[in-house]
Amino acid sequence: MDTTRMTRRGFGAALGAAAGAVVLQRGLAPAAAEASIALGQPADAIQLNSNENPYGPSAATREAAARSLDVAGRYPDAREDELRGAVAKVHGVAPEQIQLGCGSSDILRMAVAAFLGPDRKVIAAEPTFEAVLAYNRVTGARAVKVPLDNAFRHDLQRMAAACDAATGLVYICNPNNPTGTIVTAEELTAFLMRVPPSATVLLDEAYHHFVEDPGYRSGQDLLAAHPNLIVVRTFSKIYGMAGMRLGYAVAAKEKVEALGRFASFSNTNAAVLAAALASLAEPELVPRMKRRLNDTRKWLTGQLTADGRRFIQSEANFVMIDTGRDVAPLIASFAAGKILVGRRFPSMPTWLRVSVGTPAEMAAFVAALREVLPARAAA
Ligand SMILES: Cc1ncc(COP(=O)(O)O)c(C=O)c1O
Repeated sequence: MDTTRMTRRGFGAALGAAAGAVVLQRGLAPAAAEASIALGQPADAIQLNSNENPYGPSAATREAAARSLDVAGRYPDAREDELRGAVAKVHGVAPEQIQLGCGSSDILRMAVAAFLGPDRKVIAAEPTFEAVLAYNRVTGARAVKVPLDNAFRHDLQRMAAACDAATGLVYICNPNNPTGTIVTAEELTAFLMRVPPSATVLLDEAYHHFVEDPGYRSGQDLLAAHPNLIVVRTFSKIYGMAGMRLGYAVAAKEKVEALGRFASFSNTNAAVLAAALASLAEPELVPRMKRRLNDTRKWLTGQLTADGRRFIQSEANFVMIDTGRDVAPLIASFAAGKILVGRRFPSMPTWLRVSVGTPAEMAAFVAALREVLPARAAA
């Protein structure tokens, strides 16, 4: 798409045309269109709102999921054990140190249920991924929100200072959703030394695979030294399986047992287990997807830089852009043009979160952004 030749038209027309062009290019399948309608989204919308992977599962993963129908008549216990073994191998731990979940949100829910209650406290950054505090609404635990620092990063000093004997859970999202910023290995290590062992640290690494910053390290390397740590991963992002629902926790056996008390029986299914096993057996999948999506993100941030826009350097598959005005009407304008972007974050009301889609989708987004918010008017 030639975005440089776009003439100034009404928002809707410009956005609609941009969206339409991409839909034609990607040839949205009728089944996918139906799914979008069922979700209450326009059938041909460009979905840059949930940090999903626009490419979906790999070809081998799709084949494995389709073949799983042969065993769909049976409960999936044996395959759960198989996947737990495969995941444990990835992380160099025992299978008893893995808890599977129906998406990683299910793991976050189990942690809230296991470690919080009326006399407890949960500490989280503001803004961060909302699931833990949302699930916490039914426990009666006090939520302590610690604002990000001036660089939009976790303020670990303040978060550690907020921990006391009543702290049941500390939630760290690394990289953080919605800012894409990271906690470095050094910062995480120092933080874990300060947190009382009675507080469980829930480290959400949903976007782990996208990180390129050499200062970053997965918390998995710190599990042996810190038995109060739980690392959470998902198949929803780099593996492109958000619609299939699979996540897991890696932790000390005692923590996994505590989570497991709140897991429902057979919380996975034949198709997703087959898909995950196939994905893990494909060593090129992660590096290929990382390259593809990070290259697209870098193209996007290059365009934002050329426009003189302010944005947060991201280590994940989304970018926060400062619009300099309340973002709610802009989100609505994009939606009217069938481009779905992230929700408004109350503590960052002028910032727009856009997920990384295909190159054509990002070109459509940039063209639409230039229409809705011409560069010289941007913050
Ligand atoms: C930081 C973070 N954690 C967890 C999730 C939930 O992912 P899922 O339940 O699909 O594994 C998301 C989804 O966007 C996320 O951003």
